[in-house]
Amino acid sequence: MTIVSPSVLSADFLNLGEQIRELNESEAQWIHYDVMDGVFVPNISFGTDILKQIGKRTDKVLDVHIMVSNPLKVVDYFKKCRIDIMTFHKEAVNDNMLIPTIEKCRLQGWKVGISIKPKTRPEELIGILDKVDLVLVMSVEPGFGGQSFKPESLDKLDWLHSYREEHGLNYLLEIDGGINRETGKMAVEHHCDALVAGSYVFKHPEGIKAGVKSLL
Ligand code: DX5
Ligand code: ZN
Repeated sequence: MTIVSPSVLSADFLNLGEQIRELNESEAQWIHYDVMDGVFVPNISFGTDILKQIGKRTDKVLDVHIMVSNPLKVVDYFKKCRIDIMTFHKEAVNDNMLIPTIEKCRLQGWKVGISIKPKTRPEELIGILDKVDLVLVMSVEPGFGGQSFKPESLDKLDWLHSYREEHGLNYLLEIDGGINRETGKMAVEHHCDALVAGSYVFKHPEGIKAGVKSLL
């Protein structure tokens, strides 16, 4: 069963409580929360306080994606939040600090994901793929919702799927950026387990629940 992880980056912030209620009634299993620091990506989103409030109003899996230049430091700020999966970017961390960053997240009791931007090859993750629970393939340049899906991400999903099969690993594959009914279907055909969808779900003409459903 495909996991849908609606990204609240595209929510109507002045109606966030109502939108979370709609997500709770939807078939989405996860909620995706994008944190941007204005340095790693050219945008600033939201921090810990809004996540804490969302965590009190939902039982869905909280799927946190930090697009920040110093994850090792930033994860400290999230210690008091309810988080299920914490995903940080490979490009943000020196290679020798990848495993310490993963371990620091694990100490919080979080599952850990690693994300790659469109220009990063999945082969660069060899060495940590046996240490993560999830790999998040960015199918747009991180920073903004509403961009077009980059089809070359599908090859990355194939490669990551073959690698996990060959090595008996069980990390989940997640894709983020430009997901709609068509691109979501393609990603699932290329072994993707979890679809992040922002604008498609929150701006769906028939509403949030229908948007989620059409991705399943
Ligand atoms: C982009 C974020 C995404 C964003 C996706 O940097 O990581 O999660 O919300 O938005 P859509 O689905 O509109 O491309
Ligand atoms: Zn994201």
